[in-house]
Amino acid sequence: MRTFYITTPIFYPNAKLHLGHAYTTTVSDILARYHRLKGRYAPEEEERVYFLTGSDENTQKILPAAKAVGQRPEDFLEGVVANFKNLFSELDISYDQFIRTSDEKAHWPGAQLLWQKLQASGDIYKKEYEGLYCVGHEAFLTPKDLVDGKCPEHGEVPKVVREENYFFRLSRYSETVRAHIESGEIAIFPETRKHEILSLLREGLQDVSFSRPTSAGSIGVPVPGDKTQVMYVWCDALANYLTALGFGQSDEELYRQFWPAQVHVMGKDILRFHAAIWPAMLLSANLPLPKALLVHGFIVSGGRKMSKSLGNVIDPEELITAYGADALRFYLARHISPFEDSELTRESFKDAYNADLANGLGNLAARILTLAESHLPEPVALPRLAFPREFSEALDRFEVNAAAELIATAVQKLDQKITATAPFKVVKENPEKGRECISELVAGLAAIVVMLEPVIPATARKIWVAIQENKKPETLFLRK
Ligand code: MSP
Repeated sequence: MRTFYITTPIFYPNAKLHLGHAYTTTVSDILARYHRLKGRYAPEEEERVYFLTGSDENTQKILPAAKAVGQRPEDFLEGVVANFKNLFSELDISYDQFIRTSDEKAHWPGAQLLWQKLQASGDIYKKEYEGLYCVGHEAFLTPKDLVDGKCPEHGEVPKVVREENYFFRLSRYSETVRAHIESGEIAIFPETRKHEILSLLREGLQDVSFSRPTSAGSIGVPVPGDKTQVMYVWCDALANYLTALGFGQSDEELYRQFWPAQVHVMGKDILRFHAAIWPAMLLSANLPLPKALLVHGFIVSGGRKMSKSLGNVIDPEELITAYGADALRFYLARHISPFEDSELTRESFKDAYNADLANGLGNLAARILTLAESHLPEPVALPRLAFPREFSEALDRFEVNAAAELIATAVQKLDQKITATAPFKVVKENPEKGRECISELVAGLAAIVVMLEPVIPATARKIWVAIQENKKPETLFLRK
């Protein structure tokens, strides 16, 4: 059976998740659900799916964040992670595993094994180094990355760091990684991001610092054989995609089944780590490469990336409380481009909610099922259902917004069909014909439910149950 291993980035738990993070996760969830459902309609397409998310805890961001609220780092992390999981449960995120990179049993041995493999290939060496470290990025920047001496994304002056640490011979892999990306062995969606990373690879990659001295107060996974150093946070973070599957532990069954990943989902700011460093690490360790990277744009607010450091975040909880989780899922799916930046405001959200859901889908389901309840003696015997070809094709290209657009179009068309066929009149004049008309509308609604399932699963279930019980559902989306 084919497998589909999909991952979100692991999130920094220094603060609550905002809409940008909710986006990455929701898109991944829609794709995971779609792949799980494939086999239901076409058994030959059945796939075994594994969906991973988690938290990136060995970051320098934690200590100051914990200190600011007067908590011990461990307690602080417990709280934030509980918060993440709570949001994911409200948002109906169907992950199979939530990995925490502070987990010494589950994560550390695999991260260390990977390190040893890089070392065995001769790709780890020690060097004295001085650079400008941006904690926001968890990466060294070059002077040309700065604007007025500050990191333009995080608005902070980077720290001058001079220390001896281990380096990863990334430069050795520029050419091989480039070839794998150019040939499509690692497919990058969209094309523009592929070109962006190819031009970077053509310039050639520099070796990268891969550890920090513990004396500098760094926390993290100890470097094997050297107690004075811990791994660079991105080195252990990327390893999560392997360690979550049991890589480096006694039970590697999941690893054997699911590696390599079909797709790593991420925002454009972390493309470099996933398209340059990560493949180089895997090549050095002699491990298979991921099949695809889906690189989405940012949710912007007032023209700037929504981010905690810029102070322009919208809390997903706020929208969930006001509109419901499916309203948020549908908005993210339809109105945020998976490839470009998209602006989101409270006003645009409300307008879209009313148009798409309250007056759109919700109203359509109520109209059809009210007719069905009053005029059909029993539930409609439905024809064989399946994902429409265009819908599958859109999701196979990761174009979640195009898939959601097909739902919106189907809703409009079915609405027009009600107006055109006027079943409420027909049923009075010719009851048999009227019942036929209504049954067709119910079948049309069921065809929409098939597409709704991966996108807004809770609403899909409610409509589905109503169709099967031949009853009008309770109000799905209140007008706002
Ligand atoms: N911890 C690293 C990822 C390590 S993966 C091995 C990290 N974490 S993060 O919490 O800062 O970001 C997680 C994801 O959220 C990234 O894909 C990032 O692009 C995404 N987003 C953060 N802000 C965003 C928006 N405003 N809009 C869309 N997504 C953005 O990076």
